[in-house]
Amino acid sequence: MTDLTTLETDLMAQIAASADEAALEAVRVAALGKKGSISALLATLGQMAPEERKTAGAAINQVKDRVTEALTTRRDVLKAAALDARLAAETIDVTLPVRESPTETGRIHPISQVMDELTAIFADMGFAIAEGPDIETDDYNFTRLNFPEGHPAREMHDTFFFNPKADGERLLLRTHTSPVQVRTMLSKKPPIRVICPGRTYRCDSDQTHTPMFHQVEGLVIDKGSHIGHLKWILEEFCKAFFEVDSVKMRFRPSFFPFTEPSMEVDIQCNRQGGEVRFGEGEDWLEILGCGMVHPNVIRNCGLDPDIYQGFAWGMGIDRIAMLKYGINDLRQFFEADVRWLSHYGFRPLDLPTLAGGLSS
Ligand code: DAH
Repeated sequence: MTDLTTLETDLMAQIAASADEAALEAVRVAALGKKGSISALLATLGQMAPEERKTAGAAINQVKDRVTEALTTRRDVLKAAALDARLAAETIDVTLPVRESPTETGRIHPISQVMDELTAIFADMGFAIAEGPDIETDDYNFTRLNFPEGHPAREMHDTFFFNPKADGERLLLRTHTSPVQVRTMLSKKPPIRVICPGRTYRCDSDQTHTPMFHQVEGLVIDKGSHIGHLKWILEEFCKAFFEVDSVKMRFRPSFFPFTEPSMEVDIQCNRQGGEVRFGEGEDWLEILGCGMVHPNVIRNCGLDPDIYQGFAWGMGIDRIAMLKYGINDLRQFFEADVRWLSHYGFRPLDLPTLAGGLSS
């Protein structure tokens, strides 16, 4: 009997000392499991004489009941403690303001915004987007665009050249997006209607020039394309881009090697009050160069100028972005100042569409 008392005291101590439910379960198995200490005692009853079995059986079963009850009580205590600990560890302050997601705080750069706006406008007129590499050959950047060797127009471009290769060829950073015209005519069959937005480079830097800047080129090649189409496209573009109902435009004769005739285009604006407004006023502002693609260029790109003709234009994206959004120093575009971007940038999910509004 003293053995039984010792066993009970021992088990009760182990139960009290169990720090978590797993430890408690181990104690239960060691006492009441198939090979447990109490189960072993119960198994000895079979060999006892009937009288002895009566008293011993009752005593062992009482111990078993008390141990079972102690296990249940301890399990409840441990469960409650575990829950309390979890609640304490996982407190959430529901009064904290919700943290803004990146789609709320991030901003689209005005240049990207303007490229999206251009794309929306020209895509609506049926233009596709064409792209070319920033590193170009002299052939595509100049020669095929009808810049003769040694022509002063080459010098005007302040070109960044790479060191000559072993065969003497000098690659360059493209000085305009016009080489994409060449690439497009060489790879696509007319009718061609593309715009080519992208980065361009010239060795120049001041308030209105940066060594890297952006242009968008437009090119239409077909059998009957003429200047009337060009004027209509540019006018529709300006109205849509500057979000005005009407805009006056002025086409001035100019010179580019790759167009004949060539023109520069000014748009009507009002500069009064230190701010430029479009669609009104007596002032003019130059926004792009354009013309009918020179027959030499069409020929240099593998097409017959007696069959195909077309027009092209080139426009500074940074410049029209500055005009539209009242940004006065070009260099700010490239300073990567987040304060500037949070002021001039656009919300990422407000994609420009003609139907939904370009910039609102
Ligand atoms: N490539 C010219 C430049 O960078 C811009 C230009 C003018 C492009 C007239 C054209 C064009 O396609 O027709 O100054």
